[in-house]
Amino acid sequence: MKQFDFIVLGSGIAGLSFALKVAPRGRVAIVTKKDRAESNTNYAQGGIAAVTSKEDSFALHVRDTLTAGAGLCKENVVRTIVEEGPARIQELIELGMKFSERDAPAEDGGKELDLGKEGGHSKRRILHAKDVTGREIERALLNAVARQPNIQIFENHIAIDLITSQKLGRADTNRCLGAYVFDKKGNRVWAFTAPVTLLATGGCGKVYLYTTNPDIATGDGVAMAYRGGAAIADMEFVQFHPTCLYHPQAKSFLISEAVRGEGGVLRMLDGREFMDAYHPLKSLAPRDIVARAIDSEMKKSGAEHVWLDITHRPAQFLIGRFPNIHQTCLRYGIDITREPIPVVPAAHYQCGGVVTNGNGETDIAGLYAVGEAACTGLHGANRLASNSLLEALVCAQHAAARAIANRQSPIVNLNIPLWQSGNAHNPDEMVVVSHNWDEIRRLMWDYVGIVRTNKRLERAAKRIANLQEEIREYYWNFIVTSDLLELRNIATVAELIVRCAQLRPESRGLHYNLDYPHPNPAWAQRDTVLRKQS
Ligand code: FAD
Ligand code: SIN
Repeated sequence: MKQFDFIVLGSGIAGLSFALKVAPRGRVAIVTKKDRAESNTNYAQGGIAAVTSKEDSFALHVRDTLTAGAGLCKENVVRTIVEEGPARIQELIELGMKFSERDAPAEDGGKELDLGKEGGHSKRRILHAKDVTGREIERALLNAVARQPNIQIFENHIAIDLITSQKLGRADTNRCLGAYVFDKKGNRVWAFTAPVTLLATGGCGKVYLYTTNPDIATGDGVAMAYRGGAAIADMEFVQFHPTCLYHPQAKSFLISEAVRGEGGVLRMLDGREFMDAYHPLKSLAPRDIVARAIDSEMKKSGAEHVWLDITHRPAQFLIGRFPNIHQTCLRYGIDITREPIPVVPAAHYQCGGVVTNGNGETDIAGLYAVGEAACTGLHGANRLASNSLLEALVCAQHAAARAIANRQSPIVNLNIPLWQSGNAHNPDEMVVVSHNWDEIRRLMWDYVGIVRTNKRLERAAKRIANLQEEIREYYWNFIVTSDLLELRNIATVAELIVRCAQLRPESRGLHYNLDYPHPNPAWAQRDTVLRKQS
């Protein structure tokens, strides 16, 4: 058993920001399943949305967020996050984050933050570090964490399940006492205990066959919270990014929406622009609309991708503004300064998650959730581009303050049972694990993708239930491996996405069901909420 004051599961922007805030008050364990920088955060390109320019206002950022959210955002949460954004950005800069700047008049100091534009934003308001914003955030936060003697990072440690008083049969109020954690290199399971546990485990892009997300994104936090008895909401709202690079060797490489913000235009294979038929903002319309339009045009024409064309901008500008995209595409033989980029939509962001209030509190005492794993009500039915990094920064601050204020005394003298697992190890059977992975991801892509129907959802539900039966058997009989743990989690998250989708008899934001093609006013402001029956 390892005892701490705070356990942080995940080392992306949410986990690191929270850890830095609570570290002056106690010992912090950051548990992270791969290398410390490996996270969705690390791959963020476009930037962080925040009001920093004189031409912009909180009211406009709030309005854009609510419009994208299609009637399902919680307006008080939106207002708080938007209004507190600039202060959190300033703290990030003070920690060492270097945002891109541009020349400004001498009376304004000669330099100002360069602001990018993305879909659904009525103003330029995206702070960025060229096209590698996430990498720069991780660098700055990890450097700050390294200066904190109270924080210990456990890399290659994957959280398996939450330890809760209810599971131990102890109390009437369900309280989180920590988590069982598998040390992948040491090949053993530890019980990490603390009065405060933060889920900052990110999203679940890997539930889908095609995704912009790295391999860590298997929805572990949502699955663990659900098994622990927390409420999960709005999982039907999976955001598909319209422009993932289409190339047989490129795995999950995003072409930032900022490329369209700088004038990039979507075209069919014959060069025809098509977005004017779908939305007045054309290629810069909100993501749900652009992704559906591409999906529909590809299905109509049989094309395997569309083009994103920014060749009309000067080469020098493109190389300076998008160095990572330029270099990566060159490696695949595509020169973005001279030829259009082949792109397709791919699963990108989980708008739903573990239900929290504005302070990151879940309905399990002592358990907090921040970042992509959480559902705060900011994004509603469709996240406005670059609002997620902002949400993580602001909510980490609130959750840390609340966790410090509410913290109960350290957990001592609790007889936490040792982790029990099977000990079978059969390489032939382990092949089945990888087949099940593929099957879930493919069926989610085919049946629960950009366009859904009742029938496809029903089929998906049946197949997932069968696979879960099989996974349960492996899970209890075989030795723990991270593949098996993640398989169990993606199956749970797939189930939650399908069940939420089945609960919503309308189309709204990112959830589009051909059997109910329009929003139903009775469902405006209604979340789909699931809780495990004990
Ligand atoms: P993450 O950054 O994903 O971190 C999750 C952490 O949890 C990781 O360290 C992971 O290893 C760890 N973890 C997961 N499961 C376990 C487990 N069981 N045990 C231990 N550790 C675990 N958003 C924007 O606002 N602006 C952008 O420009 C932008 N660009 C993006 C580009 C790409 C390619 C992608 C994929 C996403 C982008 N997003 C962007 C979304 C944004 O990056 C994420 O929503 C955000 O970074 C999530 O932060 P997080 O801290 O919640 O999770
Ligand atoms: C992008 O750069 O297109 C991603 C931005 C986001 O997901 O918020």
